[in-house]
Amino acid sequence: MTGQKVLIAYNAPRREQRGREIDYVSEAGVLDQVNAVHAALLELGYDVMLAPLQKSIPAFMERLSRIPTDVVFNLVEGWQGESRFHVHLACVYELLGAEYTGAPPPTLMMATDKWTTKMLLNQAGLPAPKGMLCSEVPGRFRLRYPVIVKPVHEDASLGIDAESVVSNLGDLRRRVAWVIQNYHQPALVEEYIEGRELNIAIIGDQIPEALPISEITFPYWPDGRPRICSYNVKWMANSEEYQSVGAECPAPLDEDTARKVQQIAIAAFRLMGCRDYARVDMRLSQDNQPYIVEVNPNPDISPDAGFSRSAQASGRSYTQLVGDIIACALKRGERHDHHSRPASRRSPAYQANFA
Ligand SMILES: Nc1ncnc2c1ncn2[C@@H]1O[C@H](COP(=O)(O)OP(=O)(O)O)[C@@H](O)[C@H]1O
Ligand SMILES: [Mg+2]
Repeated sequence: MTGQKVLIAYNAPRREQRGREIDYVSEAGVLDQVNAVHAALLELGYDVMLAPLQKSIPAFMERLSRIPTDVVFNLVEGWQGESRFHVHLACVYELLGAEYTGAPPPTLMMATDKWTTKMLLNQAGLPAPKGMLCSEVPGRFRLRYPVIVKPVHEDASLGIDAESVVSNLGDLRRRVAWVIQNYHQPALVEEYIEGRELNIAIIGDQIPEALPISEITFPYWPDGRPRICSYNVKWMANSEEYQSVGAECPAPLDEDTARKVQQIAIAAFRLMGCRDYARVDMRLSQDNQPYIVEVNPNPDISPDAGFSRSAQASGRSYTQLVGDIIACALKRGERHDHHSRPASRRSPAYQANFA
């Protein structure tokens, strides 16, 4: 195993083209992950190189083609400040015939679109809050208040703050207009699930394993504000919200609820075609019903992120977590080599670019 060549691909952070100036902080967070994954891979004995994705896609592709690689560790979260572009980077690996960690393009594409995800979950009978997609400010409305308004294809709580949760048509219309204007995309309006917030980390490829459930707690939360993981909670260390939340892993849940939540998470992982690692976020309503809020393929695996907390509770060190993820991708590479496929590492694209 040791000595295999790993290329860490990641987006070098740059200022946002749209949204708000503070949204930059979440993009810069990718560097913590890169450093931690790099150190873990070295400890595991891999031969590691870095491939930062900057402005030029051809330069990135050239680096990928030139450096002999057994597997790409894909930490690309977007390009030019747009998270949905991470899909196209996975397409680049496919076209070059490179094996890579994490989800394939269709999964990334479906998961980036919260509306598509909701329709798929509904179709499969998996629980998700009722929702409505607004490409323009709505005139009438059938959902039950309160509702939450989110950009339909963002991530990292971009565009989510205390004003996102609304309880009347006037506020709803204002917030939908704000999302469309600032994020240049439709707004997803969803019934707001009052209750606990659970994160279910999953590792594996063909046989996914749910790790101990992590709960975001709100012990010092200011009264009257909706208990949500807003942008401030995730990224703004000086904010009141950031300082008012905590995390508990394993979450204190009765056995039946924990099992049910993990089963639903694994079903969502499979449905969406996730691979290697993913995090399913849920809200547990006050009558103990789980609702899937989001499926995150290729979630944040910074050492201080929720995923790493769950890995630790499962008995894995951070290095073992990184080792397990890369082992999934390498195993998939071996399978592909045995059952030669068009874009396998034996393909003409591979010969031309990696040999
Ligand atoms: N329907 C909902 N009910 C209650 N809280 C929600 C709902 N949707 C989102 N939230 C809150 O907002 C946070 C961010 O929403 P999410 O859809 O996960 O966006 P992002 O992709 O930006 O992380 C969630 O972690 C949760 O705290
Ligand atoms: Mg989320």
